[in-house]
Amino acid sequence: MSTNVRDLRKWKSEGKRFTMLTAYDYTTARWLDQAAIPVLLVGDSLGMTMLGYPDTLSVTMEDMIRHSSAVVRGAPNALVIGDMPFMAYHATREDAVRNAGRFLQEARVHAVKMEGGGRVIEYTRELTGMGIPVMGHLGLTPTFVNQFGGYRVQGRSDEAAEQILHDARDLEEAGAFAVVLEGIPSGLGQRVTESLTVPTIGIGAGPHTDAQVLVVQDFLGLNPDHVAKYVKQYAQLGPAIEQAARQFDQDVRSGAFPSPEHEYAAGGSR
Ligand code: KIV
Repeated sequence: MSTNVRDLRKWKSEGKRFTMLTAYDYTTARWLDQAAIPVLLVGDSLGMTMLGYPDTLSVTMEDMIRHSSAVVRGAPNALVIGDMPFMAYHATREDAVRNAGRFLQEARVHAVKMEGGGRVIEYTRELTGMGIPVMGHLGLTPTFVNQFGGYRVQGRSDEAAEQILHDARDLEEAGAFAVVLEGIPSGLGQRVTESLTVPTIGIGAGPHTDAQVLVVQDFLGLNPDHVAKYVKQYAQLGPAIEQAARQFDQDVRSGAFPSPEHEYAAGGSR
């Protein structure tokens, strides 16, 4: 049985912490599933990590469906969540319903994520009422980068902190099964976590959230750019890839590759 949204709430009630990682492709999803990571998010961060855009704003539903369906095929045990990209739910309620439905019907993900409070709270109520589980996302929500004037920690003033707390409670009341808290002070992460019965999943939100999420490229040391303060690199795959590529190049130039064990013999079976 794969992980489902009810498991997450149960784990919170048992005080059991858990992990979520982003995934965007079949091969990586297979390894993460094999490592028993229970929740995989096909984040719109794929705009940067997979497609090389400067932010998430250019990501389309087509991009998301293509990558999400690959992750679903690679991760039969994980709860897979599709991230609704910019403009997938911003113009009309109908867009929100249609695009969330596409995620479940075409990509076969188990739930969707949307950023922000406001109208998203009503959409959360509507979608959960139709059997489409919704994960909320508050704090440093990346599609608001222009509104925030950059990637800045949110919820630092009393007023902003109260707004995040308020939105989190409203999302839970509207039926969200979990809430991502991104780029907020640790104390606020703790307050929100203690005031919800559904789990909080933190990224740059301190140690008190019920779960932690990292972007897979950050976590594996594949990101050649700025590494944010909240990131812990659990491997250094970027330098390992560079080293392997240099060795391959050198071996081909020197004639060391291919060697006899990599050749086919005429009339042989291997
Ligand atoms: O798109 C993404 O990767 C995300 C996570 C950072 C939570 O939204």
